[in-house]
Amino acid sequence: MEAQPPVIRAFGAAAIAEAAVLIRAGGIVAVPTETVYGLAADARDAQAVARIYAAKGRPSFNPLIVHVADLAAAEAIAVFDADAHALAARFWPGPLTLVLPLRDRAGIASLVTAGLDTIAIRVPAHRAIQALIAAADAPLAAPSANASNGLSPTRAEHVAASLGARAPLIIDDGATEAGVESTIVAGRTILRPGPITADMLGRVLPVAPGTTAHVSAPGQLATHYAPAKPLRLNARDREADEWLIGFGDVTGDDTLSSRGDLVEAAAALFDALHRADASAAARIAVAPVPDDGVGVAINDRLRRAAHR
Ligand code: TXA
Ligand code: MG
Repeated sequence: MEAQPPVIRAFGAAAIAEAAVLIRAGGIVAVPTETVYGLAADARDAQAVARIYAAKGRPSFNPLIVHVADLAAAEAIAVFDADAHALAARFWPGPLTLVLPLRDRAGIASLVTAGLDTIAIRVPAHRAIQALIAAADAPLAAPSANASNGLSPTRAEHVAASLGARAPLIIDDGATEAGVESTIVAGRTILRPGPITADMLGRVLPVAPGTTAHVSAPGQLATHYAPAKPLRLNARDREADEWLIGFGDVTGDDTLSSRGDLVEAAAALFDALHRADASAAARIAVAPVPDDGVGVAINDRLRRAAHR
């Protein structure tokens, strides 16, 4: 079957209106930011976020960055302390991402944070993603708009070459300004260097370079959520003391997708693991999940949860 080429539309009111319709319908859109082109979906819609993973062919789930219009919108989702306020006041809108505690009932799909209780959030400066946030009236989860292992795209043509028809709509607003991904800061630690340099940050706060392993602020210890209970893979039946997470024809205490849909299963994964952890059962079992499409990322996460 010949895949349709992606639709590339020049930035403007018509392109943004078309993109907003797609976002509101749970679809994905490639849109430029001041750093790189992102592949965006409504961060409140778990299946839409799962479609980002399906399109990128990413073999694992990483928490994603959420893009919002302004500080007020960010504060509705994340809990800001004085440090975070100082950084936001100086560098937003712009290429700085803050990792902050996720607010209760923020309405963000658990697939966005990969089950963590922290969230990476930023207010972008680019007119195209700002227009899309406004038109869709949605916080947008967006990783870089390239296939897994590909280079980050700084032009619409790069997105088209990397994702093809897996990016149904690309908003073209020319080359991005920064060309590298946003700087990520958690507490006073730089998790990822980027356009906002350590020197620039240092004029606001004493920050130190580091990796997620060195994050010391409470609630920001884990890079990856995993359930606390032992987990058994490829289970077709429940053993004593187990909470069974089903898939397809394996019916459990819960299911990732009773119709065996992998995008639905990805969308359900982290909520299902949290429910299993919170249940009275001592152990968790999970039905087999096919290892194709976004199922590869689901199995990667399940294996890591099982082999801690
Ligand atoms: O410039 C950018 O940031 C681009 C544009 C599209 O905005 N986006 C981007 O997203 O680079 P992505 O998904 O490629 O990178 C997200 C990074 C990952 O390294 C991830 O581990 C980290 O952010 N991250 C997200 N949430 C996190 C969290 N709660 N704790 C620690 N790291 C987090
Ligand atoms: Mg990336």
